[in-house]
Amino acid sequence: MIKKVELGNTGIYVPNIAVGCMRIPGQTEKETEEFITTALDCGLNFFDHADIYGGGVCEEKFGKAVKSLGIDRESITVQTKCGIVPGVMFDFSKEHIIESAENSLRRLGTDYIDVLLLHRPDALVEPEEVAEAFTYLHDRGMVKNFGVSNQKPYQIELLKKTIPYELCANQMQFGLGHSFMVSSGMCANMDDKFSLEREGGILDYSRLHGMTLQAWSPLLYGFFAGNILTDEKFAPLRVKMAEIAKKYSISLSAVAFAWILRHPAKMQVVSGTSRADRIRELALASDVRLTREEWYTLHLSAGNILP
Ligand SMILES: NC(=O)c1ccc[n+]([C@@H]2O[C@H](COP(=O)([O-])OP(=O)(O)OC[C@H]3O[C@@H](n4cnc5c(N)ncnc54)[C@H](OP(=O)(O)O)[C@@H]3O)[C@@H](O)[C@H]2O)c1
Repeated sequence: MIKKVELGNTGIYVPNIAVGCMRIPGQTEKETEEFITTALDCGLNFFDHADIYGGGVCEEKFGKAVKSLGIDRESITVQTKCGIVPGVMFDFSKEHIIESAENSLRRLGTDYIDVLLLHRPDALVEPEEVAEAFTYLHDRGMVKNFGVSNQKPYQIELLKKTIPYELCANQMQFGLGHSFMVSSGMCANMDDKFSLEREGGILDYSRLHGMTLQAWSPLLYGFFAGNILTDEKFAPLRVKMAEIAKKYSISLSAVAFAWILRHPAKMQVVSGTSRADRIRELALASDVRLTREEWYTLHLSAGNILP
């Protein structure tokens, strides 16, 4: 069974596993259709995009497949992002946000985007401009909900000063191989690398404000950079994951998802696989609730410490 979480404080409930679409540009049309139908079959109807994924190809392929499969638009939640001009700059100007959203709508072949995220903090952000862009898109029914990605608490507070809409989600890198969001809290004020606060306390901030954290690259860009199955440095983690995988009859990668979902902040994991069979495997993590001891054992086996 797929578990749902409330998206921010919107009253909209979405699967705790979102289907990331960054890696689908290489799929054939048939593979994209199978990818989407498998996800829907598993109960995963929340899809994550960005204007820049595959240079726009991901949104385009997805839109085409949804149309040719005759999927009811209302039955899926489509999230996309804007604000990056690859290799050139980050751009939260009013013009860029509106133009990017218009292009995403066209490529996705839809009248509205369910959730639009600001992809990475723009150092030159003028919150008033963002507010104007969001109001323009919201008033025209082009975007229903807004959020951010890779942002710290004060960056969000700055945006909130002018934006008249809830910022319902923040997409951050998080997982067993990249768990600074939890380790910096547990190692507060210690003289070691684990106490370094890289994200400004975003985990507690999100819980306080009911903002959904979406964990991107949950397997660290691959199955722990492709080497968890062979690399000696992952041996202790591999052993623990295998034990837990056996107990719950799920795959190792699903254990990595379950570890994220066990955290009481209402997180969504954003899956990254482009394979339909792996979507099926990962979906099984949705309602696995690891014990406290299992959660900590995995955390420690991944190389973290308890001070
Ligand atoms: N907001 C941001 O800044 C940001 C940044 C990066 C990503 N994202 C979002 O997060 C999503 C996930 O990121 P990600 O793709 O880096 O996530 P990931 O889950 O850490 O990595 C997915 C990669 O792992 C590979 N993989 C190898 N073994 C696997 C296994 N057993 N199970 C599942 N995958 C396995 C997949 O290959 P196969 O495809 O062959 O399965 C795929 O290439 C993206 O699609 C995107 O929507 C957001």
